[in-house]
Amino acid sequence: MLSVKHLLGIKYLNREDIALILQTADTFLDVINRPIKKVPSLRDITIVNLFFENSTRTRLSFELAEKRLSADTLNFTASSSSVSKGETLIDTVNNILSMKVDMVVMRHPQAGAAHFLSEQVDSIIVNAGDGAHEHPTQALLDAFSIKRKLGSVEGKKVVIVGDILHSRVALSNIFCLQKLGAEVAVCGPPTLIPRHIESLGVRVETNLRKALEWCDVANMLRIQLERQDIKYFPSLREYSSLYGLNAAYLESLSKEIVIMHPGPINRGIEISSDVADGPHSIILDQVENGVAVRMAVLYLLAGRQPE
Ligand code: CP
Repeated sequence: MLSVKHLLGIKYLNREDIALILQTADTFLDVINRPIKKVPSLRDITIVNLFFENSTRTRLSFELAEKRLSADTLNFTASSSSVSKGETLIDTVNNILSMKVDMVVMRHPQAGAAHFLSEQVDSIIVNAGDGAHEHPTQALLDAFSIKRKLGSVEGKKVVIVGDILHSRVALSNIFCLQKLGAEVAVCGPPTLIPRHIESLGVRVETNLRKALEWCDVANMLRIQLERQDIKYFPSLREYSSLYGLNAAYLESLSKEIVIMHPGPINRGIEISSDVADGPHSIILDQVENGVAVRMAVLYLLAGRQPE
């Protein structure tokens, strides 16, 4: 059993919770690679996917995870709902819960939104990304992908490169990887690295080559163009020349490293196509693994026991 009722952030999970989710995801990865990719485990459960912010991977991955578990699913998009007429988040969710919905998966642009909801409504809440705070299922699928590629997470060196300041993926990854015994560094322009991030026990490196020579895995984050309300670096071309990764750069390193990216990719900015689509990249494995990890999260939060 998990030690938590909701999945609000990796911060609230212990190492045993994370290990249980990854172990359960192994089973579900087998399921989704069978000819019949479905199990009846959650056929008595109804789940709403409540998205107040755009998403491709997370939204489809949760929906598919729910369908593979035989749950009934509802999809809610804020822009086409009565939120546009002024309905509050709590009223919206309580109305949906009145229709006998058991679990809420929510992405929201405000940090803390999932936590707030968990205190205001009587349901199980899964955070599918809240502002620049946490994206727990992304971190779980990233850890699962590292484990599958390298055999374990413990003792591995992982650098997270790019826009750390605006990244919920970075914070959730730092918590998750450290709880599993990895060493974590962040790398990027000083303006995109939060002050005092060392207090979380991460290394800070502003030189990409040094960071890449140190690590086993590089997680290349997207420059969040939509959140660049002020100029954090002179130009995208300069960012790309200092922190972008291409195949020639990768080949010039003294060792092979694994390349990850949570998506969506800005091709030619933080990562070139020859790296994103190249032999060191596990980007599409991350997406496949995401379905199995989200199945595990939903299954365990619904109170089901690991088989
Ligand atoms: N990685 C991720 O969260 O992608 P989406 O925004 O497409 O869900």
